Amino acid sequence: MAFDLRRFLPSFSVATALVSLAISGFIHAPAARAQSSDSAPAQAAHSMPASTSAPHRPNAHDALFHDDGHYVGPGSCSAVACHGGIEPRSVTRVLQNEYSTWVTRDKHARAYTSLTTPLGEQIARTLQLGPAEQAQRCLVCHALDVPAAQQARKFDLADGVSCESCHGPASRWIGPHIQANAQHTQMVALGLYDNRNLVLRTERCLTCHLGAPGLNVDHELIAAGHPDLRFELDSFTAVEPPHWVEKNADGHPLNDPLFGTRAWAIGQAVELRVSMQRLVRDARSGPWPEFSEMDCISCHHSLTGPLSWRQRAGYPGHRAGDPPYNFSHYVLFQHIANEVDPTTNTELNQAATRVAHLVTSMSTDRPAVIAAAARAAALSASLANELQTATYDRARTERLLRAISADADAISQDGERTAEQATMTLDALYIADANAGARNPETRAAIDGLYKLFNNPSAYNAPQFAAQLRRVHQTLP
Ligand code: HEC
Ligand code: HEC
Ligand code: HEC
Ligand code: HEC
Repeated sequence: MAFDLRRFLPSFSVATALVSLAISGFIHAPAARAQSSDSAPAQAAHSMPASTSAPHRPNAHDALFHDDGHYVGPGSCSAVACHGGIEPRSVTRVLQNEYSTWVTRDKHARAYTSLTTPLGEQIARTLQLGPAEQAQRCLVCHALDVPAAQQARKFDLADGVSCESCHGPASRWIGPHIQANAQHTQMVALGLYDNRNLVLRTERCLTCHLGAPGLNVDHELIAAGHPDLRFELDSFTAVEPPHWVEKNADGHPLNDPLFGTRAWAIGQAVELRVSMQRLVRDARSGPWPEFSEMDCISCHHSLTGPLSWRQRAGYPGHRAGDPPYNFSHYVLFQHIANEVDPTTNTELNQAATRVAHLVTSMSTDRPAVIAAAARAAALSASLANELQTATYDRARTERLLRAISADADAISQDGERTAEQATMTLDALYIADANAGARNPETRAAIDGLYKLFNNPSAYNAPQFAAQLRRVHQTLP
């Protein structure tokens, strides 16, 4: 099992271990990534303004629930003739077994039930929230917790994270969307959330998987027992598993074996922006420094001295003893940012480095943190736009694989969180490249070897990780 701080918790079980194995990529089902051929039509470039001025009063409903319709609940989608088929269909526009996939295989369907487990209730007890399944603090991310005024009919919170949590309120498009000539853009105008756009899709995932105004997993929640949040679009999509075939903006199947490279690149850009927006919120109000913005393991490792690897490395770039900022959202991303727009990346590098410096030195100058993070958010938003129209071919994928695995010292020294992102990144890129024909069992085995190094995250060891990363590099052409 891999990077799972849940192992610190008394309720850790084999079940969670298996789940994390899924995240660790060992079971990346080929079927989940079967959508392949060669055309990679550019996604419609949506401009995503970096709303760096996050509202002062957090409002979860602004982040997830929009006024463009009412919610009808997943029961409205479950008929066999609609999305409740058992086997996927090939003659229809969509697979039609989406509901079955979600209800049987997707952990989102069990998100509410998790609140009622001993761990869920324990977390809520520690935070004095009352029963977890009634606490808004939890329900915002674990259910379709919509204000009564926006419910078209009664539905059950117990359905967890359901269709409209990701697809938006259906009251206005549920009728039109079954017509033979239904156009995606028309449905989007009626309130369907545009998940075909990878910027918007990642943003939607990250409302819950990283946080948004009013939806927050901070160090207090984590210390109470909540699993730490981490994300990488392509890996998490494979694990979900997807109940769809990837399409371009016009609705044609993408058939792109290298879709994973695209999803990784755009996902990283959006993740960096959302992490900076989160930092802006954290610096605006609440306890500061907020520990969940830092590299967890820098505080949570056992003392192995005299002269541990950290002491031997001499804390490059910061004062000995300061807890490093969790820089994982930038360290991998910079490789693709530098390819598509080196000028913007140079500016981003400065802004992000300044953020890292301020947080690591536990600066109490909150306005300075906010300004630097806002700047980094704006730059990453503009890079996300550029990445939507970039080309993702084998040459680029292999260049990224080589560059990232060659960056072993910098990546490993940056801490456990960055090492995790590097592992998910190499996995996503390798699988994309393998889909395109470049299968190599040695690379596969070397990447699996990276995952094994997270069996006990507290024992993370940078020199060991760097050595394994070099092994990955040696297997590459
Ligand atoms: C409304 C909030 C919400 C949204 C939006 C959301 N998720 Fe989740 N996700 C959750 C919650 C809560 C869980 C934990 C479920 C449980 O209780 O086990 C979860 C679990 C997962 C898991 C399982 C993780 C594991 O440890 O096995 C994956 C994979 C995942 N989500 C992927 C995605 C992807 C991909 C997207 C976007 C397309 C997305 N999620 C959007 C809330 C959300
Ligand atoms: C910002 C969104 C968010 C909030 C708020 C939130 N959670 Fe979660 N929770 C998640 C996500 C996402 C996961 C899955 C993490 C993963 O596996 O990567 C999760 C996982 C869990 C799990 C582990 C499920 C499993 O079996 O693996 C429990 C238990 C849990 N949450 C309880 C709670 C409780 C109790 C609260 C309120 C005090 C809460 N959560 C608030 C997003 C959230
Ligand atoms: C965690 C987020 C999430 C949940 C929950 C979810 N979906 Fe999806 N769904 C997606 C994403 C992402 C896509 C891929 C982008 C797209 O095609 O819109 C997708 C695609 C689809 C498609 C294919 C659309 C097309 O035009 O090809 C259908 C149909 C669908 N989902 C139905 C459902 C139904 C029914 C449910 C509930 C039982 C559901 N989804 C729950 C995220 C989600
Ligand atoms: C700046 C140091 C620091 C950082 C960074 C930090 N923590 Fe903590 N953490 C603490 C302290 C202090 C406690 C409280 C320990 C106590 O009460 O004995 C704690 C408690 C915890 C606990 C409960 C520990 C227990 O005894 O069971 C967990 C779990 C945890 N942190 C996880 C994390 C995760 C995950 C991250 C990163 C997202 C993180 N921490 C980042 C200092 C830190």
